[in-house]
Amino acid sequence: MQISTIAIIGGLGKTGGRVAKHLKDRGINVRAASRSTTPSFDWQDRGTWHAALKGSSAAYVTFQPDLAVAWAAEAISAFANTAVEAGVGHIVLLSGRGEDGAVLSENELKAVGVDYTVLRASWFNQNFSEGAFVDGLRQGKLALPVGDVPEPFVDADDLADVAVEALTNPRHRNQTYELTGPRSLSFRDAVSEIAAASGRAIEYETVPVDAFITELTAAGLPRETTDLLHELFSQVLDGRNSSVMDGVRQVLGRPPRDFSDYAHEAAAAGIWSIQP
Ligand SMILES: NC(=O)c1ccc[n+]([C@@H]2O[C@H](COP(=O)([O-])OP(=O)(O)OC[C@H]3O[C@@H](n4cnc5c(N)ncnc54)[C@H](OP(=O)(O)O)[C@@H]3O)[C@@H](O)[C@H]2O)c1
Repeated sequence: MQISTIAIIGGLGKTGGRVAKHLKDRGINVRAASRSTTPSFDWQDRGTWHAALKGSSAAYVTFQPDLAVAWAAEAISAFANTAVEAGVGHIVLLSGRGEDGAVLSENELKAVGVDYTVLRASWFNQNFSEGAFVDGLRQGKLALPVGDVPEPFVDADDLADVAVEALTNPRHRNQTYELTGPRSLSFRDAVSEIAAASGRAIEYETVPVDAFITELTAAGLPRETTDLLHELFSQVLDGRNSSVMDGVRQVLGRPPRDFSDYAHEAAAAGIWSIQP
């Protein structure tokens, strides 16, 4: 298998940044691509896609804002065709679990005929430290429209290790993996573990989804984002994804990282310290 450069679409993000680093550590050329890179890549501007992909033998792809949006499947199909024209022979797509829209996008990718690997991931641990939840946790209270449904949170470092293995080992071509952490815990449990690890009192509150969306709308979030959040919180977190799957072990031959290890490491780095 010949690897030249690997394009990382979303190369500065939670998983893309880690995938780029691990590939570079192995001496593999990478080209991070997003709106702020040169050449730039914007999911909303197809004119940017070919130049960002040209000269790459494979691509790691994180779609924005989420494969659940209505236009995602058509965009993934067009993207994969552009990638083939640009010389890309293998696409590793980061997908979600239990999302109908994500399955449509996966099917469009497979229909193009390019080699693929689909990584269906649970909610990331890093949503609590690098994503939307970090501010609330720092302020001592996270309020979300999720009750006690268990979620097997997965670590972005495990996802990156899996993506690198998928990009560099041909046995993962044309495979789909379900990637979760080693145990399921509720959002309330996760916040308790974060509070214990950081030695702080942090409260978790379950709020009604409609009140949550109204508040985000009042804070100025666009309709597309609030619709997406509504779908994610009201449909995907209904228990359909609560089971633990063994994708990380299948690919890496080792168990996934436990939430508690993640929480202790992030707490030790001061992620959830009280901000002045
Ligand atoms: N978070 C979860 O729990 C979870 C679980 C399962 C699946 N997923 C999927 O993971 C994907 C996100 O991956 P990630 O968390 O690794 O990435 P991320 O951290 O959300 O963001 C990656 C990068 O995307 C770029 N970006 C934003 N809008 C863009 C656009 N219109 N065109 C091109 N780039 C854009 C941003 O860079 P610039 O500002 O430079 O453009 C950002 O650095 C989504 O498809 C999501 O559905 C997430």
